[in-house]
Amino acid sequence: MSVIELRDVKYVYQSQYQRLEALHGITYSFEEGCVYAILGSSGSGKTTLLSLMAGLDLPTEGTVLCEGVSTADIDLEKYRRESVSVIYQDFRLFPMLTAAENVMYPMELKGMKPALAKKRAAELIKKVGLPDSVLNRFPAMLSGGEQQRVAIARALGMKTRILLADEPTGNLDSKNSEMLFGILKDLAHKDGYCVVMITHDEELGKSADKILRLHDGELIL
Ligand SMILES: Nc1ncnc2c1ncn2[C@@H]1O[C@H](COP(=O)(O)OP(=O)(O)OP(=O)(O)O)[C@@H](O)[C@H]1O
Ligand SMILES: [Mg+2]
Repeated sequence: MSVIELRDVKYVYQSQYQRLEALHGITYSFEEGCVYAILGSSGSGKTTLLSLMAGLDLPTEGTVLCEGVSTADIDLEKYRRESVSVIYQDFRLFPMLTAAENVMYPMELKGMKPALAKKRAAELIKKVGLPDSVLNRFPAMLSGGEQQRVAIARALGMKTRILLADEPTGNLDSKNSEMLFGILKDLAHKDGYCVVMITHDEELGKSADKILRLHDGELIL
């Protein structure tokens, strides 16, 4: 069974005066053990698609199924806490928490003891190539690339089978991009994760197992 399946997914942004259909009917199945790259120009619907897969919203029409069950029929808060981890385009770190506390937060939410979460957070921050000196710094005191890697460490700590990443290498140099891609690939190929990554980087996209291209809200395989 697919980890995530999209069935004729449409999404409309609707305000009082304007209506914009951002996705026009996307059908696709995502399997475990595989890294997917989603490519497409700005405004093509990549983040919108990822948000639906992340359970941040429901499709206007069509269905998003996680392990065969529609996201319309599940507890979305539980889904976001237990089934899926997301690396956001704008990082979304908690500004009042240090780098270490940001990474610890979802682990503690799942019931991990603080001392263990602290140890795990330090390991993950090291894994994404950051020095110990960032551990006690607030996000505002970190560069864009450093914040991005803290966000990646936080997502890795959630240990969910589905990892969704919105331009996770957007603020990283090529060496760090490759390092990060190696981590994502290992998660898929060694641990069976389903990794879906949005990228603007064609070269990085080519290293993924499968490439999906979005064009004006349509999927081009
Ligand atoms: N909150 C919103 N309200 C209204 N329209 C939106 C909103 N967010 C996105 N859109 C529109 O939906 C379409 C798809 O946007 P989306 O953010 O999914 O694109 P994207 O492919 O992620 O672009 P980028 O590469 O710039 O991040 C665009 O036309 C965009 O203008
Ligand atoms: Mg986007």
